Amino acid sequence: MDVLSIIKQEHREVAALIDEANKCEAGDERLRELAEEIANKLSMHLAIEERLFYAQLKARADEEDDKVEVFEAYTEHAAAKGLMQMIESGRKPDEQFKAEVQVLGENVKHHVEEEESKVFGIARDLLEKDELDEIGESWEKAKQRAERGASSNGRGRTTSAKKRTTRRPSRRATRR
Ligand SMILES: [Fe+2]
Repeated sequence: MDVLSIIKQEHREVAALIDEANKCEAGDERLRELAEEIANKLSMHLAIEERLFYAQLKARADEEDDKVEVFEAYTEHAAAKGLMQMIESGRKPDEQFKAEVQVLGENVKHHVEEEESKVFGIARDLLEKDELDEIGESWEKAKQRAERGASSNGRGRTTSAKKRTTRRPSRRATRR
């Protein structure tokens, strides 16, 4: 799949989660779940996008307008990352939390609109069709790697540790 189709698809997934989160009331546990899901999906999306897609555009853009547009996209990503830090897990999904999720949602929707019009236009100008396909392939591989990493919790050998035949107090408990 070409990279632009992948990006669009991921945008729709995140937008659906944002819409659902906006319907939740403050205090609703589902709001926190959705916020975590949005943050997880989005941080992976932004990281892969910057590394595989924006970097190519930044390297090739030579017109001033295009360069500014690409930097604007990076800046909007930075703003989204800042907002995502605010809604990190462990917080009560109270009124303030709901407001922060809403602002993140507005930020993301604005970014998606600009990206799919302006940034996609620049990409179609600067990249050949087969390059868009190649970046798409790399994107899918990067996503699979990241998902595998997340499911093993960043550790390589967890299979034997999962078979807990004898229970011992955890190290954290004994250290105190
Ligand atoms: Fe983006």
